[in-house]
Amino acid sequence: MRPITAYLSLATLTSAASLRTLNIFRSSANDAPQAPLMDPAKSNQDPTQQGEVVLSDVMSRDKSINIFAGFTRDVECVETRLDNAKVNTTVLAPLNSAVEKLPRKPWEDPRDYGAFGADAYEGKDGEDRAKGNLRRFVEAHIVPRSPWKEGEKVQTVKGGGDIWWEEKGGKKVIQPGDIEVDDIPSSVSNGEVWVIKGVINYT
Ligand SMILES: *[C@@H]1O[C@H](CO)[C@@H](O)[C@H](O)[C@H]1NC(C)=O
Repeated sequence: MRPITAYLSLATLTSAASLRTLNIFRSSANDAPQAPLMDPAKSNQDPTQQGEVVLSDVMSRDKSINIFAGFTRDVECVETRLDNAKVNTTVLAPLNSAVEKLPRKPWEDPRDYGAFGADAYEGKDGEDRAKGNLRRFVEAHIVPRSPWKEGEKVQTVKGGGDIWWEEKGGKKVIQPGDIEVDDIPSSVSNGEVWVIKGVINYT
C-alpha cells in the first residue's frame, strides 16, 4: 500500500524518534492485539499516578487512529502533556484515512520545497524541518481543555485561531471547517480522545 511506504520513509528521516511510528505500522499490518490499558513500567515510576489511566495510555488502543497516535509520540512536548495526570486535554485524533487523504504528508511544507528544493528533508537540517512541521500538525489537534463545552472557543496548543464545536444534525462538529467527530472512544482522568473524520487546519 503506497501511503504506508510513504510513512515508513519518515522513519528513515527522523530516525530513532520515529522507530515507534514504524513499529505501529508493523503491528497494524500484522493485526497485533491492542495495546494494554496501562503501561505497568510507567505507572510504577510515579506512585501518585498508580491506578490512574491517562491519555498517553489509551492513545494507541484504537487502531483507526494509530497513525496520529504515533505522531503524538514523536512530538516530545505533546507526549509529556498526554502523560501528565494533572493537565487536562481533549485530543482531536484524525482517522488514519483522513491523514492518508492529505495532499501532502504532515511533515512536508510546500514552502520548504520552494526554499530548499527536492532535498528539503535530507540531512540534519531536513530532519529538523520535518520534525517542526510534524509538531505543528500534532499541536493543531491538541485542545488544552477537558471538559470542553459546546461553543467554548479555545486555541489549540499550536495557537493561531480559535476552534470550538457544536451539535449539528445530531453530530458533534468541530469549527471552523465542519469536521465531524466520529466517536469519543476514551475518557480518562486527564481528558478525552475525540476521533475526527478530517484534520484541523495546521498551516
Ligand atoms: C479535568 O478532568 C476531570 C475529569 O476527568 C475533571 O473532573 C476536572 O474538573 C478537570 N479539571 C479541569 C481543571 O478542567
